[in-house]
Amino acid sequence: MPPAQFAVFGHPISHSLSPTIHQAFAQQFGIALEYRAIDVPPADFTATVRRFFADGGRGANVTLPHKAAAFALADQHSVAATRAGTANVLSALDDGRLAAHNTDGDGMVRDLAERHRVDLRGHDTLLLGAGGAAHGVAWRLLDAGAQSLTIVNRSPEAADALADAIGEPARVRTRYWDDLASIGSYDLIVNATSAGVLGAALQLPFSLLGNRAVCYDLSYGQAAAGFLGWAKAAGARHACDGLGMLVETAADAFALWHGQRPDTEPVYQQLRRQA
Ligand code: ATR
Repeated sequence: MPPAQFAVFGHPISHSLSPTIHQAFAQQFGIALEYRAIDVPPADFTATVRRFFADGGRGANVTLPHKAAAFALADQHSVAATRAGTANVLSALDDGRLAAHNTDGDGMVRDLAERHRVDLRGHDTLLLGAGGAAHGVAWRLLDAGAQSLTIVNRSPEAADALADAIGEPARVRTRYWDDLASIGSYDLIVNATSAGVLGAALQLPFSLLGNRAVCYDLSYGQAAAGFLGWAKAAGARHACDGLGMLVETAADAFALWHGQRPDTEPVYQQLRRQA
């Protein structure tokens, strides 16, 4: 029997670490699988994914810019996917329909709590950005016990839309990007903008950083370098990129597909050494 088929869909996708991560997880259990990276432009996404599953694909990860389209094409949606409005995991159900899930929020919180030993309870949290990535993690920060969540986005309408979608006015507020210098300081600052990926620099005031604050960038590698450099210069207690989150989100997808959660630490350490 040929190995079970998995894939990650994105655009671009050539530098994706997902094939390496899933093969490393599979080795832990002696599972044989094929995991490909498939580059598909938005116009062809839905048809390509449907063909992949029709040809026997068991599961897919979905990354930029397709997470909203992945949610839209699925027949069933997990609570996490519904709350985020996007999906990063698609699974084939026994009857041929597709289920959507979103493991981004859980992956970030697990990375913060277990790898970086950050207890989110009681934190005043600043979320920079209100796009797809921010939607994936915002509600999960609140679930993890954040005392408040302040959302700041370059275009204020998107920040308001995210706050409305969360629907917790007692803990969630929005502020203007132009007012960053006067909105006080925070215990946790999460960069969910795509500025780093796009090669743009964020101009952030040091006044945002509270005493012993933690800074977290959802991206990793060069894309996170600017924000993490700012965080270290501002005196952050921890300045973490999203490599650990990537491994944790992948482990959750693996657990959904294979019924066993792999040990993420050796895979994380291997990728960190190569980064
Ligand atoms: P993703 O899925 O990575 O979140 P997205 O949905 O396109 O991608 O969202 C990108 C986010 O990064 C948005 O919040 C965007 O702000 P706008 O809504 O104002 O466009 C933010 N962003 C991108 N480039 C930015 C920059 N140079 N400065 C500040 N915010 C930026």
